[in-house]
Amino acid sequence: MQTRKLGPYTVSAIGLGAMPVSMNNDNQYPDEDKAIATVHAALDAGVTFIDTADIYSPSWDTMGHNELIVGKAVKSYGGGTDDVIIGTKGGITRSEGEQWGRDGSLDYLRSAVQKSLTNLGVDAIDLYQWHRPDRWLVYGDVIASFKTLQDEGLIKTIGISNANVEEIQVAIDVLGEGGLVSVQNEFSPRFRSSQDELDFCSEHGIAFLPWSPLGGTGGGAAKVAEKYAAFTEVAADHGVSPQQVVLAWELSLSEHLIPIPGARRPESITDSAKAADLVLSEDELARCSATGGA
Ligand SMILES: NC(=O)c1ccc[n+]([C@@H]2O[C@H](COP(=O)([O-])OP(=O)(O)OC[C@H]3O[C@@H](n4cnc5c(N)ncnc54)[C@H](OP(=O)(O)O)[C@@H]3O)[C@@H](O)[C@H]2O)c1
Repeated sequence: MQTRKLGPYTVSAIGLGAMPVSMNNDNQYPDEDKAIATVHAALDAGVTFIDTADIYSPSWDTMGHNELIVGKAVKSYGGGTDDVIIGTKGGITRSEGEQWGRDGSLDYLRSAVQKSLTNLGVDAIDLYQWHRPDRWLVYGDVIASFKTLQDEGLIKTIGISNANVEEIQVAIDVLGEGGLVSVQNEFSPRFRSSQDELDFCSEHGIAFLPWSPLGGTGGGAAKVAEKYAAFTEVAADHGVSPQQVVLAWELSLSEHLIPIPGARRPESITDSAKAADLVLSEDELARCSATGGA
């Protein structure tokens, strides 16, 4: 598997988005054995980066569901996992009655990190990402709280998510060059609006992790073929799935980009992981770049 840099880590060029086994648009969930089998299939395929979050759960009162599955899956995997990096996120709240909110206060984040440590069964979190901005707080102050958690040894590296260029710059200013290791924003053939953040991250050597890289669990990923002919045609020429072509095209956009395709089924991530070895011609990449966005 081709590798890429994620701050101090070297990880597989394709990661696993673990969310769909605990939260997805049609609310259909695999049982725990099947969910763990999906994570194991990713590891079998050479995936060494797994993305999760504390809020990925079927309901507000099962928060931590996804982190528990990822933690169990990594611990129960037969092969070596020393090089596996787990990124989780905090800063979004879910409470009784499915009330969603944000909390970027240091006290809340510290308690969220402590729960994530327990769920994942680790002493320190490899990558802790601020899930979404808390508009009641000053952006730089929350980043400084992440630095406090890092100084306390609870988290090893810091990432942000759903951030614009100005917010990325603030994070760099607070943490210093090299202190911010990743930005996770939505990006797919359907959703191109994060191009500015992708370009900015590439200039600064920050990993860019496109979320919903295939278009999401709400049908976007499944409909890539019917919506975007270029990806389908290129896929047919190579005898691979259109989803693989989407991911290979995304990988070509920047050496700092690491897609995290989601999967409920082992087959999905086994197929997606092969995108790291799919080589597309300049002409094919140009055809892919010219499509999508609607
Ligand atoms: N930071 C944020 O705010 C945020 C928001 C959303 C998501 N995320 C992260 O981004 C990750 C990925 O996003 P996502 O899961 O929403 O959407 P996605 O990766 O665009 O699509 C996931 C769907 O694609 C299907 N799929 C995956 N590989 C496939 C393949 N090779 N062939 C056919 N179908 C395939 C999966 O099907 P099956 O389910 O049938 O396996 C799954 O339902 C999430 O898991 C999560 O970690 C972050």
